[in-house]
Amino acid sequence: MKVCIVGASGKLGQYMVQHCLDKGYEVVGVCRSKSVDKLDRYKDRISIFPGPTNDRELIKKAVSGCKAVLTVLVPWGVQQYSSGTAQAVIDFAEPEARLIFSCGWHISKDGKDVYSRKFLTGLKLFSRIGKLFRMIEIDDQVEACRRIFESDLQWTVVRGSSLEEGESQGLPVWSTYVGDPILKSDLTRRIDFALFMVEAINKDDLIHKAPAIVGCQSPSALEHSEA
Ligand SMILES: NC(=O)c1ccc[n+]([C@@H]2O[C@H](COP(=O)([O-])OP(=O)(O)OC[C@H]3O[C@@H](n4cnc5c(N)ncnc54)[C@H](OP(=O)(O)O)[C@@H]3O)[C@@H](O)[C@H]2O)c1
Repeated sequence: MKVCIVGASGKLGQYMVQHCLDKGYEVVGVCRSKSVDKLDRYKDRISIFPGPTNDRELIKKAVSGCKAVLTVLVPWGVQQYSSGTAQAVIDFAEPEARLIFSCGWHISKDGKDVYSRKFLTGLKLFSRIGKLFRMIEIDDQVEACRRIFESDLQWTVVRGSSLEEGESQGLPVWSTYVGDPILKSDLTRRIDFALFMVEAINKDDLIHKAPAIVGCQSPSALEHSEA
């Protein structure tokens, strides 16, 4: 199976490359030209399309013939980077391809998520500071997801909790809504976030869903499974 990873050079992207290669998938990676070196250790095993991930022509070429497209949605800059990236994938991916997008818990598909005051305050602060310094555009990641949710394609939007590095603990657990007690620990290993993204390719029950994930060994996940 040929899989395209959009944003392959980032931390999440590199883990996804590794998981895909472990599964024997053929990997096509898209990343900014200046970041191609970050994929040096994979250069003989994957095809790389260098350039901005919101470059429509680049995405069109990269996703051609891919059965799945894994996209890291990032709210960098004030250039509609997330929405431009998502739109290009929506417009040019093969009609039957599985499309898996990453984002954070702050994205809500239908407004039924329940957020703690601490989470909302942190998000507001992060958005304001990001906007002030013209570094981050959270609203554009929201717009990107709105477009994905409206699409009829075979999408899944994976909503990550706070992340940490470390050895894999296994496939994260998930819930439809933030606020579910199983998610309370709000921590996932980045390597396992990537695993969830890759495993989602073959999980039809995740189509048109926006699972919010948490580490399977986190206290809230363990408590829930014990219960
Ligand atoms: N960090 C968290 O705590 C957290 C929490 C929940 C969810 N998430 C979600 O997890 C995903 C991955 O996030 P991450 O934080 O782990 O980061 P990451 O995997 O390291 O990815 C960052 C991506 O952004 C690109 N990037 C960095 N600076 C950029 C710029 N100025 N302009 C354009 N692209 C730029 C990077 O490309 P280069 O390699 O070219 O630099 C890379 O592809 C995202 O979808 C995020 O919303 C993150």
